[in-house]
Amino acid sequence: MPYEVRGVIARGEGREVSVENVLVPDPGPGEAVVAVQACGVCHTDLHYREGGISDDFPFLLGHEAAGVVEAVGEGVTGIEPGDFVILNWRAVCGQCRACLRGRPWYCFATHNATQKMTLEDGTELSPALGIGAFLGHTLVAAGQCTKVSPEAPAAVAGLLGCGVMAGLGAALNTGAVTRGDSVAVIGCGGVGDAAVLGAQLAGASTIIAIDVDDRKLAWARDFGATHTVNSRENDPVDAVRDLTGGFGADVVIDAVGRPETYRQAFYARDLAGTVVLVGVPTPEMKLELPLLDVFGRGGALKSSWYGDCLPSRDFPMLIDLYLQGRLPLDKFVTETIGLDDVEESFAKMGRGEVLRSVVVL
Ligand SMILES: NC(=O)c1ccc[n+]([C@@H]2O[C@H](COP(=O)([O-])OP(=O)(O)OC[C@H]3O[C@@H](n4cnc5c(N)ncnc54)[C@H](O)[C@@H]3O)[C@@H](O)[C@H]2O)c1
Ligand SMILES: [Zn+2]
Ligand SMILES: [Zn+2]
Repeated sequence: MPYEVRGVIARGEGREVSVENVLVPDPGPGEAVVAVQACGVCHTDLHYREGGISDDFPFLLGHEAAGVVEAVGEGVTGIEPGDFVILNWRAVCGQCRACLRGRPWYCFATHNATQKMTLEDGTELSPALGIGAFLGHTLVAAGQCTKVSPEAPAAVAGLLGCGVMAGLGAALNTGAVTRGDSVAVIGCGGVGDAAVLGAQLAGASTIIAIDVDDRKLAWARDFGATHTVNSRENDPVDAVRDLTGGFGADVVIDAVGRPETYRQAFYARDLAGTVVLVGVPTPEMKLELPLLDVFGRGGALKSSWYGDCLPSRDFPMLIDLYLQGRLPLDKFVTETIGLDDVEESFAKMGRGEVLRSVVVL
């Protein structure tokens, strides 16, 4: 018997989302149905709604989720009904060239459910990031479920499923921040503040938070920023250099993903430093840089997909740190909301009022 649940649908570019009935099939081979308990609103959901990711409408939004496994299909091992899981968008295949070289965090052939969730009239839905979790039950590939301690509240745990993991991993994995480093983070939303937190966890001694909104900068301080710069009022490149002995930061993380912020990141870094792009640009954006500067400044220009995380390695570890009181993940949850409030949460995100609105089901 398929499940009939309400889900948040984006039907066209720039159109407000609607809550509609969705049919979720029973899990087939290698699949699982998860009763979603909480799902955070990520800026990437808004990118989907605006047509910035693809034009595969209608989208089923939501992808930062945790819940309880309801049913598993044939051949599923490793999870069973009743398990508390975080959903991930990197269910590694084990077979692709990245996996075979021992770099599963790059997996180029990640698994999603084979069957489709549909609207009542049979229209197939495109689930955001292969998840789609603003709905009561969702269908995923079993490998998209990572079992973690059920002691963690779902609203907190789910955030590791995307933005918070991406930010933490941008600092810890992609940027390889280490003790004594100087780090600057441009854009202090959920992703950027997680990068600030990751830099602190890694032992960075100077952590400069940059945003255009003073409220965001105050929150960034709360996550461990040692300095803040409002880049509407001060040139962020000059400010980072001033705060780092005139040189620039060892690692600069762009958690906005626009040509102007990337350029700031590029020039705010020390010689041989690292730029990490974790914010997601849209298709029309173009970047122009003097090639001589790319060469002459050296170092590494990296992108961070999902914080180069490996869910099976990182989610349980980060939840353990949270439960030990060493990772204040609950500070990311600004508010909990219902399915009908997702559109309003995009507006709040735009006004800078929230780090994360989390839908609780
Ligand atoms: N790489 C990944 O795997 C991954 C995962 C999740 C999200 N993302 C992306 O990360 C980005 C941030 O996501 P979020 O959920 O934190 O968004 P958000 O809207 O919560 O935060 C964005 C922040 O950037 C600030 N900002 C906007 N323009 C700025 C500018 N010009 N200079 C400085 N700050 C500026 C805003 O004030 C806000 O605080 C988005 O592009 C999102 O799609 C990437
Ligand atoms: Zn693979
Ligand atoms: Zn996301």
